[in-house]
Amino acid sequence: MEFKITVLPGDGIGPEIMAEALKVLTAAGAKFGHKFRVKSCLIGGAAIDETGEPLPKETVDNCLRADAVLLGAVGGPKWENLPVKQRPEAGLLGIRSALGLYANLRPARLFAPLKAASPLKSELIQDGLDVLVVRELTGDVYFGRRFRSEDGNTAMDEMCYSVHEIERIARRAFECAKLRSGKVTSVDKANVLTTSRLWREVVTRVHDEEYPDVQLSHLYVDNAAMQLVVNPAQFDVILTSNLFGDILSDEASMITGSIGMLPSASLGAGPLGLYEPIHGSAPDIAGKGIANPLATILSVAMMLRHSLRLEDEARAVEDAVNAALESGLRTKDLGGGDRSVSCEEMGDAVMGHLTAKK
Ligand code: IPM
Ligand code: MG
Repeated sequence: MEFKITVLPGDGIGPEIMAEALKVLTAAGAKFGHKFRVKSCLIGGAAIDETGEPLPKETVDNCLRADAVLLGAVGGPKWENLPVKQRPEAGLLGIRSALGLYANLRPARLFAPLKAASPLKSELIQDGLDVLVVRELTGDVYFGRRFRSEDGNTAMDEMCYSVHEIERIARRAFECAKLRSGKVTSVDKANVLTTSRLWREVVTRVHDEEYPDVQLSHLYVDNAAMQLVVNPAQFDVILTSNLFGDILSDEASMITGSIGMLPSASLGAGPLGLYEPIHGSAPDIAGKGIANPLATILSVAMMLRHSLRLEDEARAVEDAVNAALESGLRTKDLGGGDRSVSCEEMGDAVMGHLTAKK
């Protein structure tokens, strides 16, 4: 089959990790007989430098015409002093919103060969770790009104959620749970926030009316952050809001060895999705060729699965990542030390395992 993929490499390590991901995508196409027509567009700082804005209309139009979108990372010190609306991050938030991608799936899965790379004691992650963070992506303080007083001494960000927004993300989490161990932990701050009280009320109703067979529990976000490092195995699907999901998914990712391992899928009502690593643009290591491309490569796998409905192809990419790790290859973030492999070497290894005849 033939698919249209819009690629947004972005800033910092974005272009480096994207190059490896595209190699793997092309190799998957050759192996399974698909053609991926890739179109690269500007976003973030790269777009600001070229066009003066973080999300040019042409980029949005291209994404809307694509079967799926693959993104590297945005941001960097060069653009840090720009007003919030003109920063590279505004491009990322803008594209999530423009494509209606309200559901962000962030699977924190421990690859067996990486057990030693996890900062947690091995007994805490004995049976592997497989937590799926389902993060609401187009609401919350991320999209509320912002205010800064004229004297500059007061600032405010509005936290807002509607019933409709909570219902649809709750349904997505319950659907995910049905395909897994059937357990959802909803995370909020209902002991303080009104939005969280609405969140808990709606999640409970959707559960009782539509998903009574899924096991639902609720945790306050501070407790959830603590439980994640004390007993991560208790979690299956974590359902949470935009801001809490941003924070908890970084925490969950480190348990799997490195934030450089975590892919994500941002989905809306239809098949179109945006796929990106959860990490940032890492300006400190950009251009050095030492970034870990695996989160982006695993995002390719998620794209094959969720938007293109190519499950065998997705698995083949994930197996190739596992095989590369099994062979002992480690980038610097994975504890490779003096023998760390480069971003390109890791990409080549995954591609090699993918194309190798079994
Ligand atoms: C993420 C990132 C973004 C977010 C930033 C870059 C705007 O941290 O995808 O987790 O906060 O959503
Ligand atoms: Mg984040």
